[in-house]
Amino acid sequence: MKTFLHVGDIGCLQTALAEAREIKADRYKYEHLGHHRTALLIFFNNSLRTRLSTQKAARNLGLDVIVLDVNQGAWKLETERGVIMDGDKSEHLLEAIPVMASYCDLIGVRTFAGLTDREADYSERILGQFIRYSGKPVFSMESATAHPLQAFADLITIEEHRDKKRPKVVLTWAPHPRALPQAVPNSFAEWMRAADVDLVVTHPEGYELDPLFVGDARVEYDQMRAFEGADFVYAKNWSCPGVTRPADYGQVINRDMSWTVGSRQMAVTNDAHFMHCLPVRRNMIVTDDVIEGPRSLVIPEAANREISATVVLKRILEGLQ
Ligand code: CP
Repeated sequence: MKTFLHVGDIGCLQTALAEAREIKADRYKYEHLGHHRTALLIFFNNSLRTRLSTQKAARNLGLDVIVLDVNQGAWKLETERGVIMDGDKSEHLLEAIPVMASYCDLIGVRTFAGLTDREADYSERILGQFIRYSGKPVFSMESATAHPLQAFADLITIEEHRDKKRPKVVLTWAPHPRALPQAVPNSFAEWMRAADVDLVVTHPEGYELDPLFVGDARVEYDQMRAFEGADFVYAKNWSCPGVTRPADYGQVINRDMSWTVGSRQMAVTNDAHFMHCLPVRRNMIVTDDVIEGPRSLVIPEAANREISATVVLKRILEGLQ
């Protein structure tokens, strides 16, 4: 595997899930694969889970790990071509990428959407430059439009907790005080469509996700109706994707607190499990009682980030042999 951004990069999901089970039973089974290899993890944005779980996954595979927080301790990087660099950015990404790549065998990149220019975000400009100019395998640790390591961990978690062949999985928008990217809901929708689940997406009007990710999944604007009979509820905020109203791209266009997931909505589900990628704003996205309740999976879901990352890095290392 040379790049990891979309669900198609991982191939057969059943095979990937079987590998996840194998690795969960013996995390160090493939420790030899990373011997004398180095993973570089580059963060343009903050992270707790991705930072720790990807490092742990790399070490499970015997890799050396270098972590770089761009703009904190390194030179500030310019990412746009043609800019007269007379500001506070001392180095251009186009020099920095090949230099960084010379010290490693594979590269993970976290680079969030700017949320001002839909075309720039949806063309994955920064991740694309790493793919084009590094000459090394590149995997997303959440990029402008996708968070595949999270979606793979979410799928592993659903596989572990489902009690029917084709569970009903509801992806619900919930309110948040700040504008957030669409990467997590995009990837969640993409991966659930590829898996054997009954996916329903619910959000206020104007929050329609890009068809590239959501495809022909059922969209229900009535949150209570969407929740009826759900086996899994996946809550997430996202800013306006600009699909129906391009001028609103990246904006907070709804603050309706009735969308906060609480016992009222969970009561109409099939005793659904609650999921969220974390970090989560309590009593904005979800009430205390639901996230702390017996059906909440947020902790095992986060723990599965180590497993999804180990499978992905293993696949990349196998491609280097
Ligand atoms: N879910 C997730 O990616 O968490 P972090 O932003 O803390 O890495």
